[in-house]
Amino acid sequence: MAKHDLDPNYLDPNYEPVVNHTENTPFHQVLAARMQRRTLMKGSVGAALASVMGLGLAGCGSDSDDSTTSSNVSSTDIGFKAVPTSTANEVVVPEGYSSETFLPWGTPITGSYPEYKPDGTNTGAEQEQQVGMHHDGVHFFPIDLKAGGNSSTEGLLVMNHEYIAQGALHANGATYVNDMRPADEVRKEIAAHGVSVVHIKQDANGKWDIVFGSPFNRRITGNTEMDIRGPVRGYSKLITKYSPDATETRGTLNNCAMGPTPWGTYLAAEENWHGYFANGDATQPREQSRHGVGSSSRYDWELADSAEDQYVRFNVSTIGATAADDYRNEANTYGYMVEIDPFTPENKPQKRTALGRFGHEGVIFAPAREGEPVVCYSGDDSRFEYIYKFVSSKPYYAATAGGYLLDEGTLYVARFNDDGSGDWLSLDLDDADFAAKVAAAEGTQVGDVQFDGFENQADVLLNTRLAADIAGATPMDRPEWGAVDPNSGQVYFTLTNNSRRTEEQVNAANPNANNRTGHIIRWSEEGNDHTATTFDWDIFVFAGEQGTETVVDDEVIVSLTDDNIFNSPDGLWFDYNGRLWIQTDGSDAAPYQNNMMLAANPETREIKRFFVGPVGCEVTGVVSTPDVKTMFVNIQHPDGNWPDSSDPRPRDATVIVTKDDGGVIGA
Ligand code: FEO
Ligand code: CA
Ligand code: CA
Ligand code: CA
Repeated sequence: MAKHDLDPNYLDPNYEPVVNHTENTPFHQVLAARMQRRTLMKGSVGAALASVMGLGLAGCGSDSDDSTTSSNVSSTDIGFKAVPTSTANEVVVPEGYSSETFLPWGTPITGSYPEYKPDGTNTGAEQEQQVGMHHDGVHFFPIDLKAGGNSSTEGLLVMNHEYIAQGALHANGATYVNDMRPADEVRKEIAAHGVSVVHIKQDANGKWDIVFGSPFNRRITGNTEMDIRGPVRGYSKLITKYSPDATETRGTLNNCAMGPTPWGTYLAAEENWHGYFANGDATQPREQSRHGVGSSSRYDWELADSAEDQYVRFNVSTIGATAADDYRNEANTYGYMVEIDPFTPENKPQKRTALGRFGHEGVIFAPAREGEPVVCYSGDDSRFEYIYKFVSSKPYYAATAGGYLLDEGTLYVARFNDDGSGDWLSLDLDDADFAAKVAAAEGTQVGDVQFDGFENQADVLLNTRLAADIAGATPMDRPEWGAVDPNSGQVYFTLTNNSRRTEEQVNAANPNANNRTGHIIRWSEEGNDHTATTFDWDIFVFAGEQGTETVVDDEVIVSLTDDNIFNSPDGLWFDYNGRLWIQTDGSDAAPYQNNMMLAANPETREIKRFFVGPVGCEVTGVVSTPDVKTMFVNIQHPDGNWPDSSDPRPRDATVIVTKDDGGVIGA
């Protein structure tokens, strides 16, 4: 449609407008930093960058890079032979491994199990009973988890469906009649989003299949009823026509990564939700503008020709007399982590607002300790956004743990200091330091926002990005997934890329201007206590082409070769043995070719390419059974006709990887 021509980026589903216009880390502070230890990128592109930047940029920090003293080295050795880069329209795995596709988009999983139609004519109602599109974060819950078991042969596979390809979803792509969209197309698009819960089981021959008719099989979509929980529940800025008491909403959208909780539920992240709403007002409230809500929406759902309430709500313009008469606040019910209990199909999903509202990529929990607070980390994937940590107020007890633990606590945001130390900055108005910063900022311009204060803690959380600006957090190069090393307790995050960072905007944790290939950062909490408010960080590896070096204290720790060049790290997961799996969503031009997944030994930083996806895809979402003998890897937005060459439509799918000798994957 012509309106999209105004901003062609709207057709790029990964488009994230730069909406942080604060300058939290001026360059002169970087130059003044006292270096304890230097980590920098050299060689290849890095050499040029380092010379431009005068080498004044560093990371540093944790003691655990001195890997030779660790007793865990052997358990995380990388045992397979690296696979080469690939341009083939197929999945590549190492010698001795096999792969097969599973649960492609359109696979029937509930209700009347409507068959997938390759001509694109499945209806909206049918899509509501089929696996959604654009598979992303995924987790395997052993079927006997609640009974204390760890089955590796039967479980609930739960996965996100981040967004859609309209061209593949419908018989003839998205259509318009008199500038309106056929309502059933919109229904189908909303249904292709959300989350799938699939009960799966391995037969005696090792083949995985859906358990048909299982009560656990379930679709959660962009239209499923949900509760708002935590401090933002009931806040006036969430009042809508649908929920005049601001306690409910419909749907979850753009679910990128996820995190399993210590009590066996699933948190789905709401990432680029801003693109689903249209605001035609002359000005936007800060809770929309700081996220990039535009005057038109990516898919024009608000233009459904039935004019039903469930579609009209995507128009967040001021239309009615009060907020209870329209959907001006609908976008304020998005941007959260959404808790889904896969073992209780009748459970209503819960949006956990205490974890903040931003472009949640995912969430990763620190190991839960009896009697201690619950701690989890979440990145905000947009250029120059932040990394957050939530610490619950109430202690964790395995016998009684539940989602209520996520409704009360302190949200912190990370400041990565140039000397390799770091601070968790409280975003709680009860914290004297934060309250003082808020008071000082009142009446000033914070980025693009003329800041006139926060009404209460609900307002802080609704405007988490703005609160983090005021707190003085470090703007990062697009934080994607996080992972916690089960052996060392160190926390890792991918920083996928940031081509917009200028030389004036570099900081020690994001040391490369025009960072096109990304890096992986990690930290150790003070005293290895995940509730600590200080930490030490370093850069685990810089991604890039052959010869890209990660140099620590003048020693080359990693130099990338044909076996492990990669760019734009995104998915990140520690398996149950402590191997680190790195997935990419980046340039698929030479020398990298198709996107991939690599395995890393966190102790030695040995990295090997394990898996290459088909043409055009990103590889995102990985989990295994508890025995690490079946691995599930998601392929998102393949091009062409993968996985079925006889089907004209590409289908996002899960890939099951096993070792031919039945052994542990990666070993
Ligand atoms: Fe959906 Fe940031 O990847
Ligand atoms: Ca994606
Ligand atoms: Ca991602
Ligand atoms: Ca990405």
